[in-house]
Amino acid sequence: MNARVDFSELAPAESGWQETWRRWLQRLYASERMYRWSLSNPLTRRITRRRTRQLFDLMAGFVHSQVLLACVRLQVFEMLADTPQSVEALAQRTGVPQAELQRLLLSAVSLGLLEHRSRGRLGLGPLGVPLMAHPGIAQMVEHNHLLYQDLADPLAFLQQGQADRPGRQGAMAAYWPYAQGTEPSRHHADPAEQIRRYSELMAASQGFVVQEILSSYFFGEHRCVLDIGAGQGRFVTALAQQVPHLRLQMFDLPAVLEQARERVAQAGVGSRVQFHPGSFLDDALPQGADLMTLVRVLHDHPDAVVRQILRKAHQALPAGGVLLVAEPMAQDATAPARDLADAYYHFYLMAMGAGRLRTPLEIAALLEEAGFVAVEQVPNAMPIHGQLVLGRKGLPRVLSDSVNKH
Ligand SMILES: C[S@@+](CC[C@H](N)C(=O)[O-])C[C@H]1O[C@@H](n2cnc3c(N)ncnc32)[C@H](O)[C@@H]1O
Repeated sequence: MNARVDFSELAPAESGWQETWRRWLQRLYASERMYRWSLSNPLTRRITRRRTRQLFDLMAGFVHSQVLLACVRLQVFEMLADTPQSVEALAQRTGVPQAELQRLLLSAVSLGLLEHRSRGRLGLGPLGVPLMAHPGIAQMVEHNHLLYQDLADPLAFLQQGQADRPGRQGAMAAYWPYAQGTEPSRHHADPAEQIRRYSELMAASQGFVVQEILSSYFFGEHRCVLDIGAGQGRFVTALAQQVPHLRLQMFDLPAVLEQARERVAQAGVGSRVQFHPGSFLDDALPQGADLMTLVRVLHDHPDAVVRQILRKAHQALPAGGVLLVAEPMAQDATAPARDLADAYYHFYLMAMGAGRLRTPLEIAALLEEAGFVAVEQVPNAMPIHGQLVLGRKGLPRVLSDSVNKH
């Protein structure tokens, strides 16, 4: 059973008068007269417009993501990568009727994906450029289509979590079979093909989180790094290239590592990487590394499995060894602003199966429970791609007592 978030920790306690004050404010916000007044007042107009805009965007979010999906499927960003083009030219290349394509392109302009250019042509907008430059984003846009299929009836989706119907059904659950607590081979007609699909998607989308890790944590003091749930080895490969003295180990399901070997060899770092096929549900983790990493792994699993993985990592590390967790994390209660990314990840992980989005504090608590000490968050520049929490394995008690005496 997955731990539920304790809501009582998410906001400070309120006194009676604070509650009354909030109720009064709520009534004020809801009043039509107040709305009209705030729009006529130059001091409050901006705030009211911004709130109305935000609510409109929430309501329209599905249309926005469909505009994006249509542009990705029609390869509009690739077509505009080098030269701006006219609607006529794009209609010819995409085969979409010109009048309809024009609406799509105007919608994409309004979303910042495209821009009007001279002579009636269209070019890439500020949000279209990254889509052209990083194919992993387009792959995620296409992949999200599965999630949105599952969410078409959000109430039916939520009802699936009832105790008498454990496990998830739907397109996302079928895509990520291990997140149901089983290995792919037990469920799919062609498990190798299923693994290839999810591993490729992971490799394509891992670039951003790899950059966050490499630019936020200093690896130079380590000798050997074990990446647990290493996938196709994109992180291990980047690490090998950035820190030439490091030895590397990869742990993942046997069928995943079979496919990873070739990629790692192609990247020219094969001689520095050891492969350890296995399952962290059934097997111990290999020894020898003084740093272990868990990149986008824990959030796929329920707390019971997370506890198991962390305990095994603690057992396999030497005293003084470090465990680094990097994955999207929820905002802590103290965060200064709301983060829309939380809503996406909460629903994505729910559709996958048994995992959940955790705050850095929740991950820190799980690390401490597994025996790690000096647990801390490592600040990074772009938390939307993932945040970092690390813990150290302390010295054995006898040794630490004698160190403290001297
Ligand atoms: C979401 S992917 C992340 C892969 C990679 N770290 C990344 O960030 O792209 C989770 C990885 O955990 C692996 N995994 C899932 N269950 C596992 C298990 N029981 N034992 C070992 N690895 C497992 C999957 O095969 C997959 O490669």
